[in-house]
Amino acid sequence: MNAIEDLPEIDYGAADFKAAPLPTLAGFARRTKLGRSTRGVEIFDYDLCREAIVDRRLGTGHPRLMKVLGLPEGQALDYKRNSISFHDRGETRRRLRNPLVRLMGADQSERFRRDIRHVVTQIIEATPADRPVDFIAAICDPIPSSVYCYWINARMEDAAFVSHTSHIVQQVHTRDPEHTKAIVEGFNALLEFVDDRIAFARKHPGDYLLSDLIRVTDMGELTEDELRNWVVKLAEANTDNSSHQIAIAIAELASRPDVWARLGQDTSLVPKALREVMRYHPRSLSTSRETLEDVVLDGCELPKGTAVFPNIGAAHWDPRHYPDPQVFDIDRPDKPPHLNFGGGIFSCIGRFAVTMEIEEAIALMATRYPKLQVRRAEFSHSPMFTSVEALEGVLDPG
Ligand code: HEM
Repeated sequence: MNAIEDLPEIDYGAADFKAAPLPTLAGFARRTKLGRSTRGVEIFDYDLCREAIVDRRLGTGHPRLMKVLGLPEGQALDYKRNSISFHDRGETRRRLRNPLVRLMGADQSERFRRDIRHVVTQIIEATPADRPVDFIAAICDPIPSSVYCYWINARMEDAAFVSHTSHIVQQVHTRDPEHTKAIVEGFNALLEFVDDRIAFARKHPGDYLLSDLIRVTDMGELTEDELRNWVVKLAEANTDNSSHQIAIAIAELASRPDVWARLGQDTSLVPKALREVMRYHPRSLSTSRETLEDVVLDGCELPKGTAVFPNIGAAHWDPRHYPDPQVFDIDRPDKPPHLNFGGGIFSCIGRFAVTMEIEEAIALMATRYPKLQVRRAEFSHSPMFTSVEALEGVLDPG
């Protein structure tokens, strides 16, 4: 039996991870199923990652995250404590997720497609085509934040606030107390904004997501506080992740002219191309869990309360599941599935909606701008995320 101290250590601050993050993770996956880092235990193996994500002995890592950040008592911490992220497996988690899973499931999310296409088209058409543009500011941030505004019946002018605060509050995952003050202010601003939107939506019921959630609340499935927490959660979890993944998709697809041309000629290829983007260069490099009891994982003893990170980046470059993982190939089979959205009772609520957003954006850009040029794409990689720091180019270089 191994102890955590015996596991090989990955240093996320080391030059090899910074220079070549996914190949470095893949190198660990070839050598060992489990490792350790300063944040806890790392799972590098695809099968073990998938099992851990749905393992009933592993619960949410969020409460520990708030402790690491030292989030002070107040309405931001209150919100966090009562939101879905703090709830472990069990009746409350299931009850809280039920209405959202129903309203944003695979089939139900299809009802958003027409409006998502409209939002995406407006944003891309408003982007100057004949000169270099910052794709993040012009396209990647506005798409998910505008879709959120459409869900909650807010003015499209509010999209900039929504994306700005989402980027701020998602810094919880840096585990760096330097960001705590800004995070608290971000949550407070978001809570105030959401209270206004709920009050407005109560006066103007209609065929939109927030109005559906209010109906669910009035029928007793959620309390008023739970409704508020969900609307904040949808902003918190949405824009930042989605914007980065849209940017990764544009960068990876448009910088390969043969792939981009195929997508422009046949948009039915877009879903599988996007699957490969999310495999090859996922926004989520890991998700987090904590052991709810003493657990033995692959012969290693993990005491109760151990932070565990299914390492999605390593799993996606596991050659036993994805032959030649370093090759970007949109014709890969759709199995095994990528883990970009986690899984099981903790799985991403917005995965169908955001997949639709990116598919619509890529299909429109590839058909309308077959010569799109990416002139600058800069990525950074933390243990948790791939972030796109800069993405510039010209839609129609002529
Ligand atoms: C490409 C963009 C996105 C990525 C990569 C992403 C990824 C993830 C991941 C990895 C998790 C944790 C899953 C687990 O631990 O098993 C998660 C949870 C979650 N995501 Fe997303 N997400 C994205 C977009 C969205 C959007 C658009 C929304 C909402 C509209 C959303 C809402 C949520 C919520 C509410 C949770 C928490 C679920 C729970 O604790 O039960 N996400 N997401």
